[in-house]
Amino acid sequence: MAAGSSVEPFWMLYGIHQTPEVSAIFESYRIGNVRAGDTKHLTSDMSDPYANEPKRHFALVPASAKPFNAELPPDVLIQNFITPNELFYVRNHLPVPEIDPKTYELEIEIDGKEETMTFTLDELKKMPKRTITVTIMCAGNRRSDMVKYKPVRGLNWGAAAIGTATWTGVPLRDILLQAGIDEDEEKYKHIQFEGIDADVTAKNYGASIPIWKALDKRGDVILAYEMNGVPIPRDHGFPIRVIVPGVVGARNVKWLGKIVVSEEESDSHWQQNDYKGFSPSVDWDTVDFTKSPAIQELPVISAICKPAQGSQVAVKDGKINVKGYAWSGGGQKIVRVDVTVDGGKTWHVANFDHQDTVSPPRHWAWTLWSIDIPVSDDATSVEIWSKAVDSSYNTQPESVENIWNLRGVLSNAYHRIRVGLKRE
Ligand code: MTE
Repeated sequence: MAAGSSVEPFWMLYGIHQTPEVSAIFESYRIGNVRAGDTKHLTSDMSDPYANEPKRHFALVPASAKPFNAELPPDVLIQNFITPNELFYVRNHLPVPEIDPKTYELEIEIDGKEETMTFTLDELKKMPKRTITVTIMCAGNRRSDMVKYKPVRGLNWGAAAIGTATWTGVPLRDILLQAGIDEDEEKYKHIQFEGIDADVTAKNYGASIPIWKALDKRGDVILAYEMNGVPIPRDHGFPIRVIVPGVVGARNVKWLGKIVVSEEESDSHWQQNDYKGFSPSVDWDTVDFTKSPAIQELPVISAICKPAQGSQVAVKDGKINVKGYAWSGGGQKIVRVDVTVDGGKTWHVANFDHQDTVSPPRHWAWTLWSIDIPVSDDATSVEIWSKAVDSSYNTQPESVENIWNLRGVLSNAYHRIRVGLKRE
């Protein structure tokens, strides 16, 4: 039993725990075995909550199957400035809800007021719309680099829990004003978002953002119904998802069912007890989630996507070709990417292959970069490091050791990979 009732629904929902490590823990609690035949009368609901998940592209490499979480191989990720929908990383905490667009309604509630307002999908689509190019990144992107230093709790994401799309929808500001929010009113501090996806206790996914971001005309927060020119695919929030540019993926709530204008942050697990940073010295015995703010704008990051860690790279005219991405939260633009193959003695500035033209602090998309970098004649292998600098001149920390945290979030230290060198 769990929480006073059958454990099966939890077990089926959080399939992520069905691992040999967890079975080993259970084994130590075994009190006996049920006799064959004694379970026949049990009628517990063992139906799979993931039975109606959407079809996924074979190129997505799963970090977990149930719930579905997956990313691309990094070299495929940087083939496109705009990530094709079917190749966009997926980060789901729960089963993908099935939503009928004909009966879909978005509810807007203002704390303390009894009346709520609702919008159908058609009503939302009739309002003035905006299209913006926005990169979304999971707070756990590049967690696998942190794990190399010390274990953390979380999905073992590589460097591809990130993607860029053009999103079309209604400015959230317009909806809030229509719902009767007075922008000079100081009482309300947060906009809470509730997803339609729910756990077995009927608790929905939820998150919140500060109200200034939602009301600021230049904040560009939209309730999106299109991703790259087509209705948002089920995995990415069909029919409505909030896009909060420059802010961690967790606040970009998919399958949006309800918005609450409030004095308080969302009380959801994902706002209060997850997606927060801590000192490297804090462990699971000492952690106090009330002491750290919820992550909103993400710090600057870069990643080397090609060549791959451990591969053999051809040296041409004394140089190797290196490619990757860089991005910064809060609408900052990448102004430089530095790359070294000699432990930082010499830094080479990478070329930008693709960068959006929008000025900071409304620069929401990543930058793709590449460089032909010289390697010494006698080297048989090199370690490549990258670091990006954003338009606030913030740059990446040098070592993962000093930013390690127990959840493995905000893993934005210099990216380092080792490759062998092949000479013709
Ligand atoms: N919204 C809902 N309703 N449920 C979720 O599980 N996951 C969040 C966010 N919005 C999530 C959600 C997280 S942690 C991330 S990183 C992004 O969605 C991932 O978006 P994507 O799957 O479209 O890439």
